[in-house]
Amino acid sequence: MEIGFGINNAVRQRTSVRTYADTPVSQETKDKILAYARTIENPFGAQVRFQWIEKQTAENGEKLGTYGFIKGANLFLGVTVEDKDGAAESVGYVFEQLVLYITSLGLGTCWLGGTFNKSAFAQQLDIPEGWSFPILSPVGYPAKQRIKEKVFRTAINANNRVASEKLFFSDGFKTPLDLHAVGKYADCLENLRLAPSARNIQPWRVVFDGTAFHFFKKGNMNFMQMVDLGIGINHFMLTANELGLQGTLTKADVSAYPLTADMKYVASWVCENV
Ligand SMILES: Cc1cc2nc3c(=O)[nH]c(=O)nc-3n(C[C@H](O)[C@H](O)[C@H](O)COP(=O)(O)O)c2cc1C
Repeated sequence: MEIGFGINNAVRQRTSVRTYADTPVSQETKDKILAYARTIENPFGAQVRFQWIEKQTAENGEKLGTYGFIKGANLFLGVTVEDKDGAAESVGYVFEQLVLYITSLGLGTCWLGGTFNKSAFAQQLDIPEGWSFPILSPVGYPAKQRIKEKVFRTAINANNRVASEKLFFSDGFKTPLDLHAVGKYADCLENLRLAPSARNIQPWRVVFDGTAFHFFKKGNMNFMQMVDLGIGINHFMLTANELGLQGTLTKADVSAYPLTADMKYVASWVCENV
């Protein structure tokens, strides 16, 4: 599968952009982004759609409702999804691949699941019966970070990620995974670790059993943290794809694993070769 950008660069280049320059995004670029979205293969099965929301002026965009968290944006992508099993993971998986593509074009984005006025933006979208509108993102050319933005990033520790020994395990959840023992899969896990997540909580936990990587969600937020899992699994699978690592994403029998009440099984990557 050819994804159209280098995964390692895109993962490291992407950051949440909350301050935008006045430079408009061309129609050609907007068309390219929606055309790319249609090529994304989604292993989680719920349809995800993207619609542009344009504001005449950036000020209008702020009034429309990003509560001052986003500044200068006059173009947004609304993300809608069919209400069915796998909806949240589908949103995470598909939109993150689009975000990485947009990043590779030199544009900024910011996943927004909470700090926007949903009903105001929903009025600008076509949302069919049986679909939801969980996520919005500004899209535009990044400008210099504001002090308010820097303060926000510091408050949620946005520049840092949890160490791999607290996220990846072998032997049930008993032992931190020895990353030297998993060959090129270490790169897949590192790119997963660098993924964005709501409030930067990083709810993904992974257990390797010798032939499969089992993905779990840790935390009590249901929808948004399942979105986070979809994001992390996208980074993992796009990296495996780039490295030529074959495997299948499926549901496995993980009943032997001891799960605390705040943990939920999501999916497993069964390796063809390790
Ligand atoms: C599902 C999801 C929802 C998010 N919702 C918001 C939001 O409502 N407001 C906001 O300012 N940032 C939001 N973020 C951005 C995160 O705060 C950000 O990704 C995280 O702090 C890591 O920073 P980085 O994206 O710059 O790497 C969200 C991210 C994700 C993945």
